[in-house]
Amino acid sequence: MSASGSGRSTDLFEVIPARSSVRSFRTDPVDRDRVVRAVEAAGWAPSPHGTQPWRFVLIEREDDRRSLADQMGESWREQLRLDELPAEVIEHRVARSKDRLERAPIIVILCLYLGDAHHYPDADRQRAETTMAIQSLGAAAQNFLLALHAQGLDSGWMCAPLFCPELIREHLELDESLTPHAMFPIGLMDTPPKRRPRRPVEDLIVPFRSS
Ligand SMILES: Cc1cc2nc3c(=O)[nH]c(=O)nc-3n(C[C@H](O)[C@H](O)[C@H](O)COP(=O)(O)O)c2cc1C
Repeated sequence: MSASGSGRSTDLFEVIPARSSVRSFRTDPVDRDRVVRAVEAAGWAPSPHGTQPWRFVLIEREDDRRSLADQMGESWREQLRLDELPAEVIEHRVARSKDRLERAPIIVILCLYLGDAHHYPDADRQRAETTMAIQSLGAAAQNFLLALHAQGLDSGWMCAPLFCPELIREHLELDESLTPHAMFPIGLMDTPPKRRPRRPVEDLIVPFRSS
């Protein structure tokens, strides 16, 4: 079945295993409407109290992508220096990451938004509320990735924003209620990724002591 016009299946059980993390992109432009449609699909993810505690930032202009990649590259370089890696390894890693962000025609930053979170008098429940929001962000991200894939677009999850959320917020002048958590370069795949094998389903279901 190919209802998206992309030639790719839209059958859920075919889309799920066909999606994979793409890390190298062609520079061909992509249809923004498809990305917006994927955001709409993300909006159907389950969320605590139905609050949808996540927002998407769509970065399309080449100079915006380049300056963000530069800023983030600088931050990552500093972090890798703390790991005492050889300079050439650091430069190779940073260059590869920057290349991904500069070539992909659209970058999406997925932010946590706790503005509608419920408030509790105790720290445990408040922490759980935040955890639920982050869990929901993962669900939204998966909807987003599957919807991109079904429409013929490729992407891959990058966790880099988790390590420099303030830098991204300030650089993009995002509202302070938004915390960048993940980043998705979106485009058409250049080199197909090596598929990571999956554990057999029996390994994913654990035993328990039944009474
Ligand atoms: C929370 C999270 C963070 C990730 N961060 C990165 C990342 O920073 N860079 C990257 O190349 N892949 C990242 N990935 C992608 C995983 O490496 C990938 O999903 C995993 O290897 C399985 O491969 P597949 O997505 O192709 O099935 C991340 C995935 C998740 C869920």
